[in-house]
Amino acid sequence: MFKHKNITPKFGVELLDDPQLTEFTDPKIKHLNELAAEYGVIVARNQVMTMEQQAAFAHKLGTPLTTPINKNDVPDELIVIKANEHSKRVAGEGWHSDVSSNAQPPGLSMLRMEIVPESGGDTLFANMVEALATLSPKMQVFLKELTARHDPRGHYLYLSGAKTLDELPSAIHPVVRTHPISGKEALYVNDGFVGKIVELSDSESNALLKMLYDHIAYSVNIQCRVRWEPDTVVFWDNRIVQHHAAFDYSPSVRKGYRATIQGETPTRL
Ligand code: SIN
Repeated sequence: MFKHKNITPKFGVELLDDPQLTEFTDPKIKHLNELAAEYGVIVARNQVMTMEQQAAFAHKLGTPLTTPINKNDVPDELIVIKANEHSKRVAGEGWHSDVSSNAQPPGLSMLRMEIVPESGGDTLFANMVEALATLSPKMQVFLKELTARHDPRGHYLYLSGAKTLDELPSAIHPVVRTHPISGKEALYVNDGFVGKIVELSDSESNALLKMLYDHIAYSVNIQCRVRWEPDTVVFWDNRIVQHHAAFDYSPSVRKGYRATIQGETPTRL
């Protein structure tokens, strides 16, 4: 339906001819979801839109998560992603899948950048279908029997408006989940949210998670990297993708808005 070029053969695409997201009707939204299910990451350049148009687009994708603490007319559907000369850290540093501690964690995230540093500030992505497929067959079989506890973490406590982490429940999800559109299996544990593999002892769980996180971080052949321009929009499918925001541009400014769309209860078919 729209033309794209691949970022790597199996992971990440960039849309060609700048189709304007604000004009998308249902068939194009369906195609966007299918493309995300297949390639994990979609880059759309030259997308001029207001915060309200981005929020409206998020509703076309599904049910957006809301951020009750927003100020300055930022719609509840958006999270402000920003760093300036005072920033010591930024949201999204470290490999993670968005808000996986939710019972129905996000499917697509949609990040639109307005201000980008002259260089740096890329987002790195890792393909969890390939992360699973590049483990040994015996390890894959072992992982498919396991579940993991995903705990809410500090940044999302702030965004949710809750006062203490106790107000936000943890969730148990399968360590390997099946994508509802593609039917592909993907590794679904991430360093940002997972507290423990439920069926293992603490030390076994720590050792296994460390091995898996090293596998994700060091396997450059299952990763891609997106260089931002102003008005770039990137979609990623959190069911099969982890991401990591590089913070290599201090003291420059980087600012954008993320809409995060609720997914389904993760299952393994
Ligand atoms: C995030 O959504 O984790 C932030 C990603 C980024 O700023 O590149």
